[in-house]
Amino acid sequence: MAKYKIAWLPGDGIGNDVMEAAKIVLDELNLDAEYLPGDVGWEFWEKEGNPLPDRTIKILKETDCCLFGAITSKPKDEAEKELAPELKGKGYVYSSPIVRLRQEFKLHTNLRPCKAYKGNPLNYRDDIDLVVFRENTEGLYSGVEFHPLPKDVMDSLLKNHPKMKRFEETPLKDIALSCRIFTRKACQSVVRQAFKYAEKYKRNSITIIEKPNIIRETSGLMVREARKIASEYPGTELWETNIDAMCMWLVKNPQIYSVLVSSNMFGDIVSDLCAQLIGGLGFASSANIGDDYALFEPTHGSAPKYAGQYKVNPMAMLLTVKLMLDHFGEEELAQRLENAIARVIEEGKVRTYDLGGTASTLDVAREVARKI
Ligand code: NAI
Ligand code: MG
Repeated sequence: MAKYKIAWLPGDGIGNDVMEAAKIVLDELNLDAEYLPGDVGWEFWEKEGNPLPDRTIKILKETDCCLFGAITSKPKDEAEKELAPELKGKGYVYSSPIVRLRQEFKLHTNLRPCKAYKGNPLNYRDDIDLVVFRENTEGLYSGVEFHPLPKDVMDSLLKNHPKMKRFEETPLKDIALSCRIFTRKACQSVVRQAFKYAEKYKRNSITIIEKPNIIRETSGLMVREARKIASEYPGTELWETNIDAMCMWLVKNPQIYSVLVSSNMFGDIVSDLCAQLIGGLGFASSANIGDDYALFEPTHGSAPKYAGQYKVNPMAMLLTVKLMLDHFGEEELAQRLENAIARVIEEGKVRTYDLGGTASTLDVAREVARKI
């Protein structure tokens, strides 16, 4: 029996292209793994009214972790139009598989390293080495939203909060409400993982990015919990910065920061900013980590206009494979892969279009494999 069981979910669009690239390096590394392919993505929404069929969930439950390519998502109404004719009007509602997987498998932490590899012409600076920890299941992305606002929700808010009074005269149909829900447990969990990471990889600062002066209760809770946890890690400094200022500082002095922690939406925003500092979507990897399961995926989406053309940069996917190897504790393999990636970037001979080259997705993967 193989040492690891990995659910293999290419998804759609360029998800297929980059997963093929991943397989080339995994085979070269000789990872002792069994790969279990699963269906996910747009095709299954069109054909079955479910982009994440139950049989795929079953595969995930039988594996140690999942490697995921990318999927296409569309707004509710557009999605409905693309359903097979016999499924239309039957009450199927599109919802994002990746959001569902994060919630269903309690993948509470999103880890997004953003490191400038030497020789990457797209680097904003060459000395950037950031790791973003983003809370992955709550906050503004909890999905608890209303429009119009139900009357009993309005009544309860009026009864419980004096600041609601100024909305009292607005018709309920003209009010939309999205709840920013933070639990103490999730705040503690994401912050603690960031501190553990900093300790393990000898990084000396953690920056918590929120806005507690204005969003007092949710951002406030997160920052207060961060301070408590920081007191257990005297070797690591805790820096506190507001989200708006942080966007400015990251453009001004990205090299002074190390580990960043934030809630779901702010973490989403900041991690895209950080990704662009080190070459953009072609280099941005991510891990979704829970207590019992983990899912690894490049940050980019399915880029439909490049689907099946083997044009896009596989580095984001290959760096995602490295995160999976780190997670397994396969440090030697992870290091060999990262060194090979770094050498290919530095040599600059085999480059995809985003770096001004003409090499294909699989050419780059084969070059990385050769350097392993
Ligand atoms: P996208 O990430 O798919 O692509 C945006 C653009 O970035 C592409 O047109 C391409 O120019 C560039 N790009 C992306 N990946 C690249 C790579 N590996 N190498 C070089 N260039 C790359 O984002 P977009 O166009 O906003 O979304 C397309 C679809 O993907 C949508 O349906 C969206 O909902 C979905 N999506 C899925 C995600 C996921 O699977 N987790 C994440 C983000 C978007
Ligand atoms: Mg995003």
